[in-house]
Amino acid sequence: MDLRELFFISLGAAVVVYYGVKLLLFSRMLFPKMWFPVSKSFFTSMGEWAVVTGASEGIGRAYAFVLAEQGMNVVIMSRTKVTLDQVAKEIGDTTGQRVKVIVTDFIKENIFSEIEDELRDLNIGVLVNNVGLLPSFIPCKFLDCAELDQTITKVINCNVKTMAKMCKIILPGMEKRGKGVIVNISSGVASIPFPLYTLYAASKVFVERFSQGLQAEYKGIIIQAVAPFGVSTRMAAYQQTGGVTFSPEDFVKSALQYLRAGDKTHGSICHIVLGWLLQSIPLKILHAESMLHKLQDYVKKKLTQKASISASRATFENVL
Ligand SMILES: NC(=O)c1ccc[n+]([C@@H]2O[C@H](COP(=O)([O-])OP(=O)(O)OC[C@H]3O[C@@H](n4cnc5c(N)ncnc54)[C@H](OP(=O)(O)O)[C@@H]3O)[C@@H](O)[C@H]2O)c1
Repeated sequence: MDLRELFFISLGAAVVVYYGVKLLLFSRMLFPKMWFPVSKSFFTSMGEWAVVTGASEGIGRAYAFVLAEQGMNVVIMSRTKVTLDQVAKEIGDTTGQRVKVIVTDFIKENIFSEIEDELRDLNIGVLVNNVGLLPSFIPCKFLDCAELDQTITKVINCNVKTMAKMCKIILPGMEKRGKGVIVNISSGVASIPFPLYTLYAASKVFVERFSQGLQAEYKGIIIQAVAPFGVSTRMAAYQQTGGVTFSPEDFVKSALQYLRAGDKTHGSICHIVLGWLLQSIPLKILHAESMLHKLQDYVKKKLTQKASISASRATFENVL
């Protein structure tokens, strides 16, 4: 065998090994239950309480329910007392677990010392930093966002600051006990520079980098960014489930199967594939003016198709 033959055989072998490893890693994502098993007592072994921000509806509500079903008491937080009380009753009646309600507006300044006081005596094993909001219901250019100054503050306070502050409050207890789980909700749009969602997507990149850095610092604790694409909630104008859009309950059940799959996950196999596809399309194509118009038109069309459009918009305007 001459040198050239040896070179090509080695190159071929390296390619086979490279793609073999990739395939193996991908197969782990297909069968999360097998590769990343979570025992029945896993969550309660982390601590007595789970804390979920933005838990009165949508993805946060689903996390609160699932964690209570796993035997945890839950602290649920959002702005609307009446909805929180209703959710607390439903969780209590269904699971028999204790539920503590904290009414707060994460947009506001100087709220965290009060939250810290409320959480002080709890043995907290799980924190889900879920609260988040979009700058605008219809995707638009940065300068076209209504009330831009306030919008910037709202997005940064809700999507970025709250996560860091909640970790500051809850992480020390976890570090002391040497265990715990922190789930930070990002978004699929953070996978690439995402025009028309620029502020939102950038805030979610912060969520991911923060989670990944924190995981490397606190290895005894599971810290993970979860980046969904479509989940049928108020934020997503209650899009029809099916295809790539999950109900919040189905998404959360799926995402928890990936809890031990590393510091970042899209939380379901179809969102993992979607993320991979999105990253494979050249940005020149995705960022073309025509594509941006199509995206805007698509969201507008979807929204106007909804009979609930006016109700959704009214609620959204309350958020902003
Ligand atoms: N739905 C999706 O397709 C999707 C996709 C990717 C990422 N995400 C992310 O998933 C997370 C949850 O989104 P979602 O779709 O479940 O949203 P959602 O249905 O709109 O629910 C948001 C929750 O946060 C609370 N909330 C909103 N603003 C608040 C504030 N200023 N202070 C305190 N609580 C506040 C809401 O309750 P009140 O209004 O009563 O306060 C509600 O409980 C967000 O971080 C979002 O960015 C969602």
